[in-house]
Amino acid sequence: MDYSIRPATSADVPAIGQVARETWRVTYAQTIAPHNQQRVLERAYTDAALAAALGAPHSWFFVAVDGQQVLGFAQFLRRGDGQGELARIYVLPAYQRQGIGRALLQAGVNAMAREGIHRCYVSVEVDNAPAIAFYQHFGFRYHRVYASFVGDQLVQLLELKTALRALRHALETR
Ligand SMILES: CC(C)(COP(=O)(O)OP(=O)(O)OC[C@H]1O[C@@H](n2cnc3c(N)ncnc32)[C@H](O)[C@@H]1OP(=O)(O)O)[C@@H](O)C(=O)NCCC(=O)NCCS
Repeated sequence: MDYSIRPATSADVPAIGQVARETWRVTYAQTIAPHNQQRVLERAYTDAALAAALGAPHSWFFVAVDGQQVLGFAQFLRRGDGQGELARIYVLPAYQRQGIGRALLQAGVNAMAREGIHRCYVSVEVDNAPAIAFYQHFGFRYHRVYASFVGDQLVQLLELKTALRALRHALETR
């Protein structure tokens, strides 16, 4: 699999939206009602919303590309409390399980470490077993469970955390 990771640019915005729509449909087919998926996608993945996310301060937005094709993306943030957060990570279904998620995570860890961030959090829908397995593989551990609305649906979210140093070590050794 030939791909590279680079910071996203405004030219990537339409492709990121496409990746999100395709990956959301498959990922949340059993858990988030289509009209609620639609609502989030219409809010967070419009060209304007993505352009704003790309330009947000203390935020790092990466894409995995094969030539012109965007295969996946991830956004990392520095939260108000100074900790890091993996805000979103999506790899097209056909390209999952080929190391792209790992490479996106590595890019985010490098960026957060340069900002002096020591800990990284991520929230994942409680029934999203593949994503939970991905995070656990790299050493993320339980932090808390909370509920949040996705459209008109209350969704249970699992928040995981890891020390950035442990995450770097896991990325080097696992
Ligand atoms: C979760 C996701 C980002 C992982 O990216 P990926 O490119 O598929 O993952 P990688 O190939 O880098 O996997 C690295 C390791 O994580 C673990 N892992 C990844 N996907 C897994 C799965 N479906 N089941 C079990 N373990 C998994 C494995 O240990 C894997 O190593 P291995 O393939 O050598 O066994 C990707 O599958 C995805 O986009 N899923 C749908 C969207 C989603 O759920 N996003 C997260 C929302 S919070």
